[in-house]
Amino acid sequence: MNAPQRILKIARWHVAFGLVFAVLGMVLGIYMASSHNHTQHVTHAHILLLGLVVSVLYGVVYRLWLPAASPMLSTVQTGLHQAGTVGIVAGLFLLYGGFASDTALGPVLGVSSICALLGAALILYQFLRAPAARPILAGGNERLESEPRF
Ligand code: HEM
Ligand code: HEM
Repeated sequence: MNAPQRILKIARWHVAFGLVFAVLGMVLGIYMASSHNHTQHVTHAHILLLGLVVSVLYGVVYRLWLPAASPMLSTVQTGLHQAGTVGIVAGLFLLYGGFASDTALGPVLGVSSICALLGAALILYQFLRAPAARPILAGGNERLESEPRF
């Protein structure tokens, strides 16, 4: 697989993770609404905003602006954002559900937040280094068929 194909794959991973977070966040939202118990609203908000919205935006940024990015840096960026997001939402779920104490979850939430922040800083760095003007990727179904799924 060549470098541009690896970037398409990275973009797809971000979108796939985002859509998984969409399902999880909506399940939690529907549970909160139906149970009239909103104690997990902060978890719900971060699953959907950090998980769905930010992940899909990263996928779109790779797809539109960063097709020539370094596959290595992009893989690290994806790992940092997705691992950070999983850590933050799992930590918030345990915290707001009263399953673990603030003290126990502090390090998990702290490290996960820094991972998510580094993920944001790394995509910013890649974006600023990328050429300002570049042709939009060729569309067409024949091209899509040859793109990697994952
Ligand atoms: C099936 C779809 C959804 C359901 C049933 C749902 C349900 C809820 C409920 C019950 C609350 C708590 C409201 C409160 O206590 O004030 C809430 C809060 C929230 N939801 Fe959703 N939600 C859904 C989708 C979404 C989506 C798609 C997003 C964002 C992309 C989102 C973002 C938020 C945010 C940011 C809050 C927190 C608002 C605040 O600070 O009070 N929700 N949602
Ligand atoms: C490193 C990543 C992040 C960390 C550590 C973080 C942390 C926090 C904390 C500590 C709160 C206050 C919770 C409370 O009231 O008890 C909060 C609230 C909130 N954050 Fe984040 N956040 C992050 C990323 C984001 C992002 C990327 C978005 C939106 C795209 C976002 C949207 C919100 C919203 C809407 C609230 C209010 C939620 C509510 O009251 O239901 N956060 N966040």
